[in-house]
Amino acid sequence: MAPVTSLTASVHQRLATALSATLPEAPADPLLRRSDRADFQANGILALAKKAKANPRELATQVVAKVESGVASDLIKEIEVSGPGFLNITLTDAAITRNLAERYADEVRLGVPLAERPGTTVIDYAQPNVAKEMHVGHLRSAVIGDAVVQILEFTGENVVRRHHIGDWGTQFGMLIQYLLEHPHELDHKADGEDTAVSGEEAMSNLNRLYKASRALFDSDEEFKTRARRRVVDLQAGEPETLALWQRFVDESKIYFYSVFEKLDMEIRDPDIVGESGYNDMLDETCRLLEESGVAVRSEGALCVFFDDIKGPEGNPVPLIVQKSDGGYGYAATDLSAIRDRVFHQKANTLLYVVDARQSLHFKMVFETARRAGWLNDDVKAHQLAFGTVLGKDGKPFKTREGETVRLEDLLDEAVQRATAVVREKAEKVGLAEQEIVENGRYVGIGAVKYADLSTSAVRDYKFDLDQMVSLNGDTSVYLQYAYARIQSILRKAGETRPAAHPELELAPAERALGLHLDQFGETIAEVAEGYEPHKLAAYLFKLATLLTTFYDQCHVLSPDNAPEVVENRLFLIDLTARTLHRGMALLGIRTPERL
Ligand code: ARG
Repeated sequence: MAPVTSLTASVHQRLATALSATLPEAPADPLLRRSDRADFQANGILALAKKAKANPRELATQVVAKVESGVASDLIKEIEVSGPGFLNITLTDAAITRNLAERYADEVRLGVPLAERPGTTVIDYAQPNVAKEMHVGHLRSAVIGDAVVQILEFTGENVVRRHHIGDWGTQFGMLIQYLLEHPHELDHKADGEDTAVSGEEAMSNLNRLYKASRALFDSDEEFKTRARRRVVDLQAGEPETLALWQRFVDESKIYFYSVFEKLDMEIRDPDIVGESGYNDMLDETCRLLEESGVAVRSEGALCVFFDDIKGPEGNPVPLIVQKSDGGYGYAATDLSAIRDRVFHQKANTLLYVVDARQSLHFKMVFETARRAGWLNDDVKAHQLAFGTVLGKDGKPFKTREGETVRLEDLLDEAVQRATAVVREKAEKVGLAEQEIVENGRYVGIGAVKYADLSTSAVRDYKFDLDQMVSLNGDTSVYLQYAYARIQSILRKAGETRPAAHPELELAPAERALGLHLDQFGETIAEVAEGYEPHKLAAYLFKLATLLTTFYDQCHVLSPDNAPEVVENRLFLIDLTARTLHRGMALLGIRTPERL
């Protein structure tokens, strides 16, 4: 399917041609935008007139003449000069309907073009830590990261997913040593039946083990010594130690997968490349940094210094690549991961969906990699930093007892609330119990994702379930209902099928809806360019509100309508439904057919 040139792009082209015909020496942007007065307004002539020392209204009048005398076409119905030198542009109804019909013919992409120069992006997201409970920050990384993956892939980008899980470090010495001394602590009850462990069980096993080994570590000096020695064995790759370490990783994965499944999110095993995956590269990374002089020894540690990064007393804060005891930390791993992603995965872009509280770390790591020549103008790194999740009271999200909120509890509650909302309407819609349960899940999980994705990532946001599952306002259920309502109308239409009729005049609400549908491709391009899923959410919300206005002003299945009006309106709402469906899918949110 050929991509569809948007109406905006066509008008832009037409104006740019007229502008350069009027003032050949000054190429200019007509600065086109949607307007309430007409379909579009162009403001670019003002700046241009100033530059050319011309009268803006006169210049505008000349441009209008050029547009009007251009190739005869049915795109522009009216173009007039207004105010100090703006242009108001109104399109023909036929041009709008024809454009939408082309989009409608392309069921998969809705006419949205692929990026002109797609590259390879490695995206680091959904990175919980082994043997530890996931928290809301991990949820944000997963939700935002997954949306960005879908959006980038839709533009044709080659996307490599990396879940940089915390699966390495000194804490494993303690855990492994404990398990070695209490060998059955991670065994699962084998009661003959199919004994698949649930994620919850896995986590509670790990928690119990973590607490027990910690207690021993803090109280028993000899155990502490044995645990420390175990770290050395782990780093040396001693087989028995590695095998036990692997058991912690496997048990944790059972838990991670259960949470991701609850989140209705696909995480693939080969994409889980945790910190341990870069262990073999650490020595070389340090050697390269030291040899090139990027890192220097300071009090035994291998450090990188920065002019603009200072501590509270004005003393320089270095990035420590290797500790004085020879151990490697978080930074050495991230620097090694950069080498892998740039040189083996052949990335042009490295994206990190990580909490804003780690911004200093990434700033130092990226700068170090640039000095080493691993990053440059052709290979860029970017942290898509996200803010903190707050409770209703505006304070960091905690339970009443002051503990961190368990992710599953939170998701379960969202689903429970959503199911109640769905159930309330279920009878009228004729939903069976199974559908109620399924939709409750899609609505609940959609609500959590949408709330996260509809504000700019870097801002903190309030986790407020009441607001999230509300049917009114900027919520995912509102969008899901908009979609389901269209499906219901399409079902009611029975034999009458959607069909475009460019010969028909459009009502104002139809034009507004149509012009917004035309913007889908541009929105996707902008969202992908700046990694800003919240702009896609805003686009979809606006689409749903335009649809509401359309229903108020234009009846679809009214017996008073001529048959072609019914068909054309069915076509308009069906394209709206497809756009909602596609857009929501890019955010990782389902759109049930009946709600
Ligand atoms: N596991 C880390 C955490 O829980 C996040 C990892 C982020 N990614 C990275 N490449 N450092 O905070």
